[in-house]
Amino acid sequence: MSGSASHKGLSGALKRQKKVGVVGAGISGLLACKYMKAKGFDPIVFEAKSSIGGVWTKTFHTTKLQTPKPLYQFSDFPWPSSVTQDFPHHLQVLNYITAYAHHFDLLKHIKFNALVQRIQFHSQDPAVEAWHLWGGTGQAFNPKAKWTLSVYNTQTDSTQVYTVDFVILCVGRFSDVPNIPEFPLNKGPEVFGGKVIHSMDYASMDGRSAADLVKGKRVTVVGFQKSALDIAMECSAVNGVKYPCTVLYRTEHWNLPDYLPWGIPLAYLYLNRFSELMVHKPGETFLLSLIATLLAPLRWGFSKFVEIHIKWKLGLRKFGMVPNHSFHKEINSCLISTVPEKFYEKVEEGSIVLRKGPRFWFCKEGIVVDGEGSSGLKTDLVILATGCNGSTIQGMHTCRDSTAFSESVSNLYTSEMRCRWVAELLDGTFELPSIEEMKKDVERWAEYVKTYSGQYFRRSCLAALHIWYNDQLCKDMKWNPRRKKGLLAELFHPYGPLDYSS
Ligand SMILES: Cc1cc2nc3c(=O)[nH]c(=O)nc-3n(C[C@H](O)[C@H](O)[C@H](O)COP(=O)(O)OP(=O)(O)OC[C@H]3O[C@@H](n4cnc5c(N)ncnc54)[C@H](O)[C@@H]3O)c2cc1C
Ligand SMILES: NC(=O)c1ccc[n+]([C@@H]2O[C@H](COP(=O)([O-])OP(=O)(O)OC[C@H]3O[C@@H](n4cnc5c(N)ncnc54)[C@H](OP(=O)(O)O)[C@@H]3O)[C@@H](O)[C@H]2O)c1
Repeated sequence: MSGSASHKGLSGALKRQKKVGVVGAGISGLLACKYMKAKGFDPIVFEAKSSIGGVWTKTFHTTKLQTPKPLYQFSDFPWPSSVTQDFPHHLQVLNYITAYAHHFDLLKHIKFNALVQRIQFHSQDPAVEAWHLWGGTGQAFNPKAKWTLSVYNTQTDSTQVYTVDFVILCVGRFSDVPNIPEFPLNKGPEVFGGKVIHSMDYASMDGRSAADLVKGKRVTVVGFQKSALDIAMECSAVNGVKYPCTVLYRTEHWNLPDYLPWGIPLAYLYLNRFSELMVHKPGETFLLSLIATLLAPLRWGFSKFVEIHIKWKLGLRKFGMVPNHSFHKEINSCLISTVPEKFYEKVEEGSIVLRKGPRFWFCKEGIVVDGEGSSGLKTDLVILATGCNGSTIQGMHTCRDSTAFSESVSNLYTSEMRCRWVAELLDGTFELPSIEEMKKDVERWAEYVKTYSGQYFRRSCLAALHIWYNDQLCKDMKWNPRRKKGLLAELFHPYGPLDYSS
């Protein structure tokens, strides 16, 4: 989205008068708050829970960061030297986030237990629907327009309405609304004699309660992504082979045993400018399109190189777990999960049982897998590790607001870049192009995501094009997009958060 230059930056006094509301105090909300402050605004952050950190405040007992630590760090706030692991435990991640919030004095901006239920736009201009510029002006602030947020205080059971000039939504994608599969009539959890929970319910328990819940039970975990793998590991640690944990999955995935296929860092294959040359891009020139087409065989080769490594290292063929799709699609859909250590050893010893079932439903004793007759998989507890559907707030509309989410291999890094971009927009560094142009840009990106992610389109993944995406943001912000020293480094060194530290 290429914005035009603006010289209408607000003075310090005017900025303090402008009210900026941020919804959510996970990593994204904290970053938004920090960068608003840095530009002289006095943001107000609404957080539904009683603490900061978002998904890192309640997760499985054994959860670790699965992105290598150097990629998952704030660009101006390094991990403490006391954290030596490449993949820190979730409590260490939470401590790191908390230290960041203290360091930049963000807590005083946050209203806790403040659930934003509705956001409404109010304009004195009756022709809102005819606007061709975002917000009516293409700038962050329109003096004739305001937003109201209805905020429910979960402690006092009361609602207060706040009026602000700009709202930044940082409500996350992996909390709040569980993705629950749909079942035919009389074949859903209501007919099942056991218990059904979602992985989010499991994540909200402390380690002891989660262990007590699964202990001595026949557990079926539905899904084959990170939550499912982690929960199955925790169940197998509690129950061993006596009560094996069944993992019921519909798609095999290229889950990673490590980030070093055949000793080469994955980042050199997928996170540098050279790797981005192999992929068609939204808004690319004829030359870039030609290069991507010519390099397609190499792209295929890179993918095979990683696939062979994973198959060999995890013995996927032996377990019948070789995916039908390519690794290239996996990484382009942001589906990369790391396999818990010794996962397939547990499968081999029998404490985890892998069972493919593209469609399933419930019966009194457990689960019936389509095509396997009606005998059923006897189960006491079903844990649906089937992902999330984000968060919902009433009242959003497109020509005066815009909602965006994009995943990557390091969500902290992409959130930080986007927060810096929004801060520059609010500071008046650039103006937004017309709504029509922005819609076209969104369509181009959607086309790209659809081409490479297929059915996982909904995840809005930037993975294989994060540098290209950041280049667009840099151009808007009037930064030099080339962040490395020298052509070779520019082409072959992976890009990460520290490249954008100043
Ligand atoms: C268990 C787990 C592990 C993960 N591990 C990794 C990893 O290793 N690497 C990686 O890159 N990504 C990982 N992710 C993805 C993760 O979501 C991001 O890395 C990042 O933490 C998201 O931060 P966020 O602030 O955008 O969203 P969240 O952390 O979801 O924070 C959103 C905040 O908004 C608040 N909120 C929501 N709705 C409202 C409302 N209406 N009113 C007020 N407040 C509201 C929520 O309470 C929450 O605090 C993981 C996700 C999960 C679930
Ligand atoms: N750092 C960590 O250790 C950690 C831990 C947990 C989660 N996370 C992150 O949190 C995010 C969410 O992960 P997640 O594992 O909870 O969700 P997810 O990545 O969305 O995976 C959902 C799983 O459920 C399956 N599924 C969805 N709907 C289904 C249905 N109707 N029937 C059968 N199966 C269905 C999916 O199968 P298909 O593939 O066939 O769609 C997939 O295997 C990811 O970004 C993940 O990396 C990280």
